[in-house]
Amino acid sequence: MKISVNNLSVMLQRRQILQDICFESAAGQTTGLLGPNGSGKSTLLRCLAGLPPTGGRGVMLDDSALFTMSQRTRARKLAFVAQHADTEDSLRVEEIVRLGRTPHRSAFSRWRADDRAAVDRAIEQMHLQALVDRCWHQLSGGERQRCQIARALAQNPSILLLDEPTNHLDIQHQLELMLLISELPVTVVIALHDLNLAANYCQQLVVLNAGKIAACGAPENVLTPALIQSTWNINATVSDPLASNMYIQFSYRQRRPLPDRPVSTG
Ligand SMILES: Nc1ncnc2c1ncn2[C@@H]1O[C@H](COP(=O)(O)OP(=O)(O)OP(=O)(O)O)[C@@H](O)[C@H]1O
Ligand SMILES: [Mg+2]
Repeated sequence: MKISVNNLSVMLQRRQILQDICFESAAGQTTGLLGPNGSGKSTLLRCLAGLPPTGGRGVMLDDSALFTMSQRTRARKLAFVAQHADTEDSLRVEEIVRLGRTPHRSAFSRWRADDRAAVDRAIEQMHLQALVDRCWHQLSGGERQRCQIARALAQNPSILLLDEPTNHLDIQHQLELMLLISELPVTVVIALHDLNLAANYCQQLVVLNAGKIAACGAPENVLTPALIQSTWNINATVSDPLASNMYIQFSYRQRRPLPDRPVSTG
């Protein structure tokens, strides 16, 4: 399912948070959303999820306007994992993942084989088998993140929106998650801070700076030293984009020079 954003602007407390955002993510494509802290990534993802402040205005899913869709229709198409996703402390991992099936079931419908299969698959994809009976409050940061992603996967969405899902994940789980989402037949929009993950696992990147799109396109065209300098204010070298992997290395000047000799404590 294609997702397109047309001239989306957001104003909060008289501050322009997003301005004239336009981009499109083709069906099955993984789009990385990059930008410094406060540049508007989470706000944009909330807009794509149909949440306040815009309630889906300015966003189309294929040829349908998101804001005209009922809550249930949206939830059948679109799953969202927020930056600080939380849930009730007493819920167990399996119960949380089962919540992902809610939009596909009616109030009194029986738990079906396809519900069970979707939950089991999501638990396996996020390596949560050993944790299914643990309560939310007993999970580590990375385990919580994997649990929320599993809930979103169990929802079986056409569009998956992830806000910094690699936060708290160890390197193996980061790479596995990126590989998984790049191979899923699902349209993914994912906010990331790691430019190397973005370069190697996303087909398209959208870079936000102070609420505006600073660049949009294929990683090798977007992640240039000049763009990295103007957006994050750091020097970077980028490996040959035609090599199998893109590597970006960073260098920055220390704010204060180190003292020449030890400071006397006497
Ligand atoms: N409810 C709100 N009211 C007023 N300003 C807000 C509100 N929510 C967010 N903002 C502001 O909007 C700007 C964008 O915030 P947002 O959370 O979208 O940034 P972000 O790119 O996700 O940052 P980070 O990398 O730190 O997660 C920030 O300056 C933030 O302070
Ligand atoms: Mg954010």
